[in-house]
Amino acid sequence: VVKVTMPALSEMKRQGKPISALTAYDYATSRLVDESGIDLILVGDSLAQVVLGHDNTLAVTVDEMLHHTRAVRRAVRRALVVADMPFGSYHGAVSEGVSNAVRFIKEAGAEAVKIEGPRTELVRALTDSEIPVVGHLGLTPQSVHRMGGYRVQGKTAEAAERLRADSHALAEAGAALLVLEGVPREVAAQITAELEIPTIGIGAGPDCDGQILVFHDLVNMTFAPPAKFVRRYADVSGLIRGAVEHYREDVERRAFPSDEESYHLPAKTREAIED
Ligand code: KIV
Ligand code: NA
Repeated sequence: VVKVTMPALSEMKRQGKPISALTAYDYATSRLVDESGIDLILVGDSLAQVVLGHDNTLAVTVDEMLHHTRAVRRAVRRALVVADMPFGSYHGAVSEGVSNAVRFIKEAGAEAVKIEGPRTELVRALTDSEIPVVGHLGLTPQSVHRMGGYRVQGKTAEAAERLRADSHALAEAGAALLVLEGVPREVAAQITAELEIPTIGIGAGPDCDGQILVFHDLVNMTFAPPAKFVRRYADVSGLIRGAVEHYREDVERRAFPSDEESYHLPAKTREAIED
C-alpha cells in the first residue's frame, strides 16, 4: 500500500480527484475504513457524542483524544490520520496550543491536527512547528454555546463574505486542508474554487474537493434522526440488534452452544473419568 500524505491530498485537488474522508475512533472500525480505501481518517471530537455519549463535543479531553488516536494509528496503513484538537486545548496561549498539538504527533502518531475557527496565529505557529493543520469553518460544533445550537452558517451576504475571508486567511496562514461544515452549497463552491488548498465538506454540498461524514452516521449507529446532509449507507444498528437478539434467544432456549461448539475430553481420559 502507498501511504496517503498531505502533499498527495494537495495533488489530488490539482488533478481534480475527489478526496474521501471519514471519522473513526477505534482499531476495528479504523481497519475497515482504511482497508476500504478512504483517503483521510479523522479522529474527530465527535467521539464525545457518538462513542462516549456526551450531549456535545465540549467535554472530551486531550488524554481521551490521545487514547483513541493511538488505537486508530495502530490500525491504519494507508489513510492520512488527522487528530481533532478538543475544546480548550488550543483556545488559550498559542504556545499551549502548539504543545498540545505536539502530543498528538509525538504520543499518538497523528499526521496532522484539526482546529476549529479562524485562528490564524495558531495555524501559522503549528505550520512553523512542522505540524500540518486542517482548518474547520462554518458550523463549528465547539462554538455551540456562542451559536446557540447547531445552525447552518454563512447564509447572509455578510456572513458568507466573512466565511470567505476567514478561509483565505487560514490558507494564507499555512493550513493544508479546510473542512467546511454546515454552509450553503454556493458558499462552499466559491471558496473551493478560490482556494489552492483542498476543501473537505460536511453539509456543504457536492462542489467541495472532498467529503467527510461521521462513521456512525454513515452506518446508522446513532440514536437520533440524522441531519439533512447524512446519507445512511448501511443499517448496522439493525444488524447488531438482530444478531444480539438471536443470540439471546438461542441462549434462553439452550440452542447455543451446540456440541460442535464445545471442547471434549480425549476418549482415553473420558474412559478414565467414567471408571
Ligand atoms: O469531529 C468530527 O467528526 C468533525 C467532522 C468534520 C466530521 O469534526
Ligand atoms: Na470535530
